[in-house]
Parts: sequence; C-alpha cells; structure tokens
Amino acid sequence: MGIYAERLFPWLLDRALGDPRIAARRQALVAQASGEVLEIGFGSGATLPFYDRAKVTRLTVVEPSEGMNRRAAARLAASPVPVRSLPGAGEALGFDAASFDTVVCCLTLCSVADPPRVLAEVRRVLRPGGRFLFLEHVASDDPRRRRWQDRLNPVQRVVAVGCNLNRDSAAMVRAAGFHLPPPVPQIEPAFGALAPLLPIIAGVAVAPTA
Ligand SMILES: C[S@@+](CC[C@H](N)C(=O)[O-])C[C@H]1O[C@@H](n2cnc3c(N)ncnc32)[C@H](O)[C@@H]1O
Repeated sequence: MGIYAERLFPWLLDRALGDPRIAARRQALVAQASGEVLEIGFGSGATLPFYDRAKVTRLTVVEPSEGMNRRAAARLAASPVPVRSLPGAGEALGFDAASFDTVVCCLTLCSVADPPRVLAEVRRVLRPGGRFLFLEHVASDDPRRRRWQDRLNPVQRVVAVGCNLNRDSAAMVRAAGFHLPPPVPQIEPAFGALAPLLPIIAGVAVAPTA
C-alpha cells in the first residue's frame, strides 16, 4: 500500500468522519452490541469509546490496513471493554464457526473487496440467532442520485481507497441469508457537500437459527 492509503487516508478519514453526527450514529450502533463481539474494518477505532462494558464480554477487532491499525493504537489503549486487535480482512476470518454473539460493520461494506464473501464469513462466525449490526452508506433510492453515484464511483474508489458509493448493502445482507425485516429506511444523508450521494442505513440482521 502506498503513502496515501497508509498515512494520509487514515488521517483524512478521521477528520472526515469525526463529525459529532456520525459519532452519534456510531454510538447508537455499537451500544447494541453484547457478549463476544467482532468488529470488521475497525479503521482508526472511532467506534471503540461507545461499546458498553456492562454488555460486552470481549471485543475482537479486525483491520487490514497497517496505517489504520497505527492510528487505532491510542484508542485501543484506552478501551472501555476488553479488546484484542488482529490484522486481517473480512473475507477470511480466522475464527471458529459460531464464535461470536454480535458482529459489527461500521462504514465498511462499502470498502471490502468482496462483500458476499465477507457476509458469508459474518454468518459463519455468528452463533445461530446472533446479530449483525451495520451502519453503511449505500446506493441511493433516488434514481437521479444513483446515476451520479455510478458516475462518480471510479473517482471515489481512488480517493477513498476502495470505497464504493453505490452498493446495495441491505440487499446483500439479505442475500447472505440473514433475517432483516424490511424496510431499512435510508436516513438523512450524511453531512457535507457530498451528502446527497451518501445516504445512510443502519440495521440489525439476525443469523438464522436452523
Ligand atoms: C470507511 S473506513 C471505516 C472505518 C471505521 N469502521 C469507521 O467507522 O471509522 C473502511 C474500513 O474498512 C477497511 N477495510 C477495507 N477492506 C477491508 C476488508 N476486506 N476487510 C476488512 N476491512 C476492510 C479499511 O481499511 C477501512 O479501515
């Protein structure tokens, strides 16, 4: 990985996603996590302060970028919950089947190389009835905005190191076999100039019990 992806981008991401409105969404998401928890695409650790020590037995975080892992070090040292940080990608999780009660993805399915493979891994490592918590920016319901997302996606992939504007993450979660009651509303777009291109969804999908 180059200097941009490993040095500058982690810093930029912290700045761009450090807005209190995003922090509030992250908080609402991970406050629901309980038991043995796995977070995939941990980035610089912006979710970490919001895990509830009364509910989380242990948090395991997985992140492939060395630059992100470097930036996460200080937050990991101040973790409110017992935590272990492992390098790695969501497409090949080195954990036994059914070893987690909760899996979290926060603004990560947009960036992974192979979302169906990641979601198959999430399903494998979740115990039956375990919960997959996600917060993602997604393909817009609005056809005009969606066209702009498609046009600008090649630029986004370069500038934001593999991030895609136009993924239908809720559909992918359902296609992976999770129970995810419809609808998952697209909540107000994220803040900033690109807001119309960054509608957000948050959801709780449940791994099947049989
Ligand atoms: C937009 S950032 C979000 C980081 C963090 N979750 C947050 O909320 O700030 C996307 C993250 O996904 C990570 N990522 C990219 N490909 C991945 C993969 N295949 N498996 C796991 N994480 C991945 C990136 O390195 C980056 O840290």
